[in-house]
This record gives sequence, structure tokens and C-alpha cells, in this order.
Amino acid sequence: MYAGKGLEDAKPLTLTDFRKMRETGEKIACLTAYDASFAALEDAAGVDLVLVGDSLGMVLQGHDSTVPVTVDDLIYHCRAVARGLQRAFLMGDMPFMSYATRDRALDSASRLMQEGGAKMIKLEGGEIEADIVDYLTARGIPVCGHIGLQPQLIHKLGGFRVQGREADAAEAMLKDAKALEDAGADMLLVECVPADLGKRIAGQASVPVIGIGAGPDTDGQILVSYDILDITRGRKPRFVQNFMQGAENVQAALGAYVEAVKGGSYPAPEHCF
Ligand code: KIV
Repeated sequence: MYAGKGLEDAKPLTLTDFRKMRETGEKIACLTAYDASFAALEDAAGVDLVLVGDSLGMVLQGHDSTVPVTVDDLIYHCRAVARGLQRAFLMGDMPFMSYATRDRALDSASRLMQEGGAKMIKLEGGEIEADIVDYLTARGIPVCGHIGLQPQLIHKLGGFRVQGREADAAEAMLKDAKALEDAGADMLLVECVPADLGKRIAGQASVPVIGIGAGPDTDGQILVSYDILDITRGRKPRFVQNFMQGAENVQAALGAYVEAVKGGSYPAPEHCF
């Protein structure tokens, strides 16, 4: 059992712990949170990494994309989440265009860490962002590079679709992953790609790779908490599992998610592309 058992006195997790988990094969259980109450429940359930994602623009603010979210929004929610966490590692998302130049990236990332309490920032983009990743990591800012489906590109992509299905797109994504790692990224997040590509990216990487809709072979899994708690209305992506089903309450559902990730029963074949 992971859910809340013996975690009360646990030390805050660090990137070193995630690297060890990757080496030993222990899956890293990650979820989004946007406020202190959910953060505390996730922490107690044994979630290892909590992301304050720009998905807050959709699930909290009611926008139809993540594009309108600002750095100030992220900081507000990061601060709230930080107050709810004891053990879990806090990652903050860099909103649309907040890293369009080196100066903006440094300003946004340092504000997320200093004002928001984030221990790592995440930004969307592959090789094209390598220079920014290099600039930030050289200055001591831990970075997670988000590849595969990049929701901030929704208006360019024209919809949320599986990425990397064709051989050349898959090769380009492997190149993106390598470029981010070479630029100093400490973690990669891969969204909505065929399971065999998720496996290749994790196999090639030497940093922890977290998947969302990327199959069972990444080092960890992440989902939007409102999706797994059946709060989000409307059609949900194929990779989402409703953990409220059969759970007595939210705490139990979060515990079931952590157990399913750690035990390897999530994602199941029906969640994969
Ligand atoms: O913003 C977010 O919540 C994310 C996850 C979907 C990974 O980036």
C-alpha cells in the first residue's frame, strides 16, 4: 500500500530520488494540483511529483485552451500548492510565450521558483527550445522538457491529436528529446504518443521520463487530477482512467492512482496508442 502509509515523516523528494527511482525501476507517480487542499491529499496519497500545470486555464478558469494562462496565474496556484506539500516535489509550468526569449524565460522561471516555491519548471518544445533550456539550466534552474503533444500549440495544430505516429515524426521526437537532454534538461515529459515511441524515448534518455498517454514504459506517469477524479466534464482523452470508480472518497481514489502507477496496472493497453 502506498496511500498515506508511513509517509507522514517522509523527507521531501529531490531530483536525486527521481534518478534513483529510474535506476531501480520504481515508477514515479505524478499528478497535477492547483490548490493547497488537493495538494495535501495528493501528498498524503504518496504522489511523488505534483505539477501546477497550465491546464489550470482549462480545468479551473474555464478557457478552451491553456493559451490565456499567465505567469501570475501560475505563481498564485504554485504558492497555494506549495503550502499543501511536505514530501512531493513541486514542478511549475511555464505558460504560453513566457519563455519566448532568454530574458523572459529567466524572469518567468525565477519568479516561479522564488515567488511560487517551484523546485523545477516545465516548458513545452523540443530542439527549438534547447537554447533556452541551456540558458536556464546553466543558471541552476532545473528544467523538464515537454515533448509530444504540446497543448500550447493547439491553434497551430488545430486539435489535440496523437503525435509521432509516422516514422519521420518519431525520429524528430527522439532528436528533440536528445537535444533537450544535451541542453541540460533534468527530466522529460512526453504527451500523447504511441507506446512504442514512449518506450524508445525512455530507453534513449539518461534522465527520468514521465509519460501522459505515452504507454507503460516511461519512468513515471502523470495525469490531470480533475480528469482522474471525474471532475472534468465532457469527453476525456483515451489515456484517462476514472479512479473515483470504486473509491470511497477522493483520498482513496488518489491512493488507488498511486498504487496503479507503482504496481504497473496503469496504464493498461486500453489507455495506450
Ligand atoms: O498543464 C498540464 O497539466 C500538463 C500535463 C497535462 C502534463 O502539462
